[in-house]
Amino acid sequence: MRKWTRREVLKSGVVVSAGLTTAAAAIPGTVAAVTSSSPALPPPENASPRERHLMDFGWRFHLGHASDPAQDFGFDGEGMFSKTGDLVEPLQEKFDESKWRPVDLPHDWAVELDFQNDPGLVDHGFKPLDRNYPATSIGWYRRVFEIPANDRGKRLRIEFDGVFRDCTVILNGQFIGRNMSGYAPFSYDVTDFLDYGAKNILIVRVDATQGEGWFYEGAGIYRHVWLTKTDPLHVTLGGTYVRPEVQGATAMVTISIEVENQSAETKTLNVVTQFLDKNEAVVATAQTQSMRADPWTNLTVVAQAEVQHPLLWSLEEPNLYRALTTVQDANSGRTADHYVTTFGIRTIKFDPDAGFFLNGKPVKIKGTCNHQDHAGVGSALPDRIQYYRIEKLKEMGVNGYRTSHNPPTPELLDACDRLGMLVMDETRRMSSDAEALGDLERLIRRDRNHPSVIIWSLANEEPLQGTDRGARIVSSMKRLARRLDPSRPVTTAMDGGWGEGVSGVVDVQGFNYKHGPEIDAFHQRFPKQPTIGTETGSTVSTRGIYVNDKEEGYVSAYDLNFPPWAATGETWWKIYAERRFLCGGFVWTGFDYRGEPTPYEWPCVNSHFGIMDTCGFPKDNFYYYQAWWSDKPVLHLFPHWNWPGKEGQEIDVWCHSNLEKVELFLNGMSLGTKEVARNSHVEWKVAYKPGTIEARGYKGGQQVLVDRRQTTGGPAKILLRPDRSQIRAEGEDVSLVEVQVLDSQGRVVPVADNEILFHISGSGKIIGVGNGDPSSHEPDKAQRRRAFNGLCMVIVQSQKEPGEIRLEATSAGLEPATAAIASVKAAPRPAVA
Ligand code: GAL
Repeated sequence: MRKWTRREVLKSGVVVSAGLTTAAAAIPGTVAAVTSSSPALPPPENASPRERHLMDFGWRFHLGHASDPAQDFGFDGEGMFSKTGDLVEPLQEKFDESKWRPVDLPHDWAVELDFQNDPGLVDHGFKPLDRNYPATSIGWYRRVFEIPANDRGKRLRIEFDGVFRDCTVILNGQFIGRNMSGYAPFSYDVTDFLDYGAKNILIVRVDATQGEGWFYEGAGIYRHVWLTKTDPLHVTLGGTYVRPEVQGATAMVTISIEVENQSAETKTLNVVTQFLDKNEAVVATAQTQSMRADPWTNLTVVAQAEVQHPLLWSLEEPNLYRALTTVQDANSGRTADHYVTTFGIRTIKFDPDAGFFLNGKPVKIKGTCNHQDHAGVGSALPDRIQYYRIEKLKEMGVNGYRTSHNPPTPELLDACDRLGMLVMDETRRMSSDAEALGDLERLIRRDRNHPSVIIWSLANEEPLQGTDRGARIVSSMKRLARRLDPSRPVTTAMDGGWGEGVSGVVDVQGFNYKHGPEIDAFHQRFPKQPTIGTETGSTVSTRGIYVNDKEEGYVSAYDLNFPPWAATGETWWKIYAERRFLCGGFVWTGFDYRGEPTPYEWPCVNSHFGIMDTCGFPKDNFYYYQAWWSDKPVLHLFPHWNWPGKEGQEIDVWCHSNLEKVELFLNGMSLGTKEVARNSHVEWKVAYKPGTIEARGYKGGQQVLVDRRQTTGGPAKILLRPDRSQIRAEGEDVSLVEVQVLDSQGRVVPVADNEILFHISGSGKIIGVGNGDPSSHEPDKAQRRRAFNGLCMVIVQSQKEPGEIRLEATSAGLEPATAAIASVKAAPRPAVA
């Protein structure tokens, strides 16, 4: 490996320091490292005193009350802050928590509440959370845990990945913080507040009375909680920033590392970073000179190393690297910290004329916007469901994900990194107030090493978007974003005011809807500003439904219905596909979500915007996108062919296909061949006759694919299809089981709505059920569910004991089914006892 010469280092703006450097001098850009081919290897990872323990298990939960202190465990403000300690009743060690329900995280209490037909609750999916529902809007969490005596002297921090919302955190009677945002991560150094060699009581009071968005947001500690223990000399949480610059066949990787000396001693330290490829081979090492860290100070170390022939991160090959940073305390010769940063090496460019480039190649962003809830679990998604959802999107040909309209959970980004998905990472609030900038800072520090993240979104459809005030606010946000991450552009999702206000501040102009003329006019006026569709088409449709039905709250699944501000899939994609200058766009939305039912309200409780339903079952438009976004040949025929009573009536028959021609047959008789125009579909009107409707797709004169729908018999049996038949026995892994209702010949009955009862035995439990019916008021937390148009879903979670899980499904008059899921021994993530 080549060594950098002093001239090259100077050229890069980084200065090599000689000998001992003081902490004051050790600010970004003043301390450097050189690469070395025969590095002094730091000690193995397990020699690090850093420990990270999952704190998801063993909580107790109780609803409080937003207006009656007597039902809110003494949280009345009365004397609460007059002295330190003994803040609220559940903090007492003798407090009887037996009436508090045991829960594990992630937990969303909103999904457990009954639906209320109150028009005031429409946005949030008719769940009783607001000032009119004080008895269901506050949640209390209690966790008692031991801290061993030998943790004294370490630094301990509790990290919350996300709590909805406005939570007050109290530890051993001490108020330790309040966090408003329902989405931004936050953490507290709890070293001073813990009792060592003793029991500790952590209380989190969560107030979900006020929402933030206009969609279902959940309620509670719906993401992971961690307890981290470090040496007083350690890398700051989110304190590493890896920035690779690809130069021909090499990548110069710069890592900046914030180190804290939280001790009364002056420390001399060495910081070494090893870069490991996906095979765990050390491919480069960056080492700093010794430095001095004064007591109770932070310093930032910048180091560089060259990676030869890097394996780039791409959509097809999402190669990742790990930077293992070791902080050695030269006073004692000990390893003080070992900090792992996962990153990828890739280049991005947003070009005003030619769109987006990944690793120098043009990539049209074929994206979807998404909220974060899923059937059965609300907003409390086990990590595996993040992967399931990204896998489904990839299957459809999607390559981009906008985290509308809030910071995502870190596991979503891990899934995007590992599976290959470009991310527009969005903050919740467009503001430069301290709270909002704090949220943005924590978001960027947490997410800036993810190669999947290609752009920061600072706002969505803000009333101030076209104003000077908006421009000043976004300038401050952008300044912060640039300071923390100079490598990515910023955008805002605007639905008006283009060319005014915020437009002049952002690097990339975002468009929500208003396709065609507005975008072209903007591009002509501002030819040097790259453009992207932050929200594009949004067909409203219900899976398996082919006639609009206001009473039921269903919309047909043809690509026909859309709100006045939006467009169909086919309309928006044709516009975007034809314009090279557009970087691509994000459809509203990939999956249905709770709340914001459109166009109908009650009994409808979900949105209809999804290309998939809340379970991830594809609607027909899935295949439109798959045809034009993926590389595989696609032929998808719809609707189903069960129309008793409609004999002789015309049925619209559509086909989504990327083949050249499609010939349609009814009961063996050809109804003609149609050519498929690019980015379109083909359709026929067919007089209904029961039997078989069949499409044959041709390319180059050859028949490539056949798809058919048959008039099925009535429901006869159940089929269970776990997405994985083996899961890890660590208490959080899940298998998502698709439940199909079949006729006697094994065909899915496309109109079946049988109620299915589930029984589980062995080492697993059911954590939720769903069916994608936007108007279903059945509980998600149940052991039963009706099929909706032939399908429903049950989510099975492992316990910590390995063993076989047996899921049985029964329904009156149907042949039952069973599925076996092996829950196999897995190294558990360290967890707080
Ligand atoms: C947009 C908004 C989204 C969603 C969508 C529904 O204007 O940004 O959050 O509400 O409309 O069409």
